[in-house]
Amino acid sequence: MSVIISPSLLSVDFLELKTELERLNEIDDLWLHLDVMDSHFVPNLTFGEPVLNKVKTVSKHKLDAHFMVTDPDFFVENFKNVGLHNFTFHWEATKNPEELIKKIKALYPSAGISLKPGTPLSAIPMKIWEMVDLVLIMSVEPGFGGQKFMPESIDKVIALDLIRHENKLNFQIQVDGGINGENAGYLIQAGANNLVAGSYVFGAPNKDYLSRINKIR
Ligand code: DX5
Ligand code: ZN
Repeated sequence: MSVIISPSLLSVDFLELKTELERLNEIDDLWLHLDVMDSHFVPNLTFGEPVLNKVKTVSKHKLDAHFMVTDPDFFVENFKNVGLHNFTFHWEATKNPEELIKKIKALYPSAGISLKPGTPLSAIPMKIWEMVDLVLIMSVEPGFGGQKFMPESIDKVIALDLIRHENKLNFQIQVDGGINGENAGYLIQAGANNLVAGSYVFGAPNKDYLSRINKIR
């Protein structure tokens, strides 16, 4: 599996959104990571459907939405015309994950679940691993960009890769939080094949995003 890089829009200069999206359009094989926060599941508030409807008209990349929200069910319906490729919700935010995944799969090409750093892999039933297209391992506490990478997430990726391998599953393993050119190699070796990076990409000197993306790759 080749590695997908998903730059997180949370770290973009929002006053330059269109230009920045066009800049990312010059780079191939990216996803665009969209952190939707409701100021309830996490102590931060970002953007919703009206903004993402505009993003979709400019970006050529697959839209990868990470819902840090208390009521993901509401967003499944509400975002159905945004053109998302992947819809990831937090395991900690749902009571009926099987139903939710079915709903997502009826409307979006890819369904993902995300685990906060404190949620062990053992909390997830096998049935769920079999249903999802993507598993997002958080390597920081969700809510903000620019935080420090938690190295213990590497072991979680290794253990998840084993679950995937032993059960002949092929969900993507995505990691999100504090990823840079130094820790990316360890994550890829551990089995991750989809890496989110916000402040590292958008903090590139002279807006040379490709050089930072290539360092991760
Ligand atoms: C944090 C978000 C991340 C964030 C990553 O809750 O889910 O996607 O944008 O930002 P960096 O790469 O700066 O840690
Ligand atoms: Zn995210």
